[in-house]
Amino acid sequence: MKILILNGPNLNMLGVREPEIYGKATYAQLETYLREQAAERNIEVSILQSNHEGALVDAIQAAYQTADAIIINPAAYTHTSIAIADAIKSVSLPAVEVHLSDIRQRESFRHHSYVAPVCIASVVGEGFAGYSRAMDLLLERFKSSG
Ligand code: DQA
Repeated sequence: MKILILNGPNLNMLGVREPEIYGKATYAQLETYLREQAAERNIEVSILQSNHEGALVDAIQAAYQTADAIIINPAAYTHTSIAIADAIKSVSLPAVEVHLSDIRQRESFRHHSYVAPVCIASVVGEGFAGYSRAMDLLLERFKSSG
């Protein structure tokens, strides 16, 4: 199984950025964690972080017929981007939305997600472990549909 993992703007600043919310671990540590968790599950991953909405849209489109599923933390674009939601819908791949923090417990502008309706699940507030939960959800879905 091949999964595209996308991380949106400012996630490259993990470790520096608001550690009281996002923790002290760096983006490099997140990537290492994702590769380890994927290897344990026999999942092939392609990981991209971008601060640019169009680059995230391009990556989602490139996943069409090359990946089996998407895990995405669109970061602030969660709350603004119809383009990212449309791209996920366009490629018809099962996608899981992940947020390190619990966006439901934060400012009201973070409560709405444009991507949630095009994802099979949203995992919030579990830190790095949210990504491994997303992998498990996608694996389960593949087992039950295969
Ligand atoms: C985030 C939550 C978003 O509201 C915020 O803009 C981010 C990170 C998270 O992982 O908790 O950049 O997606």
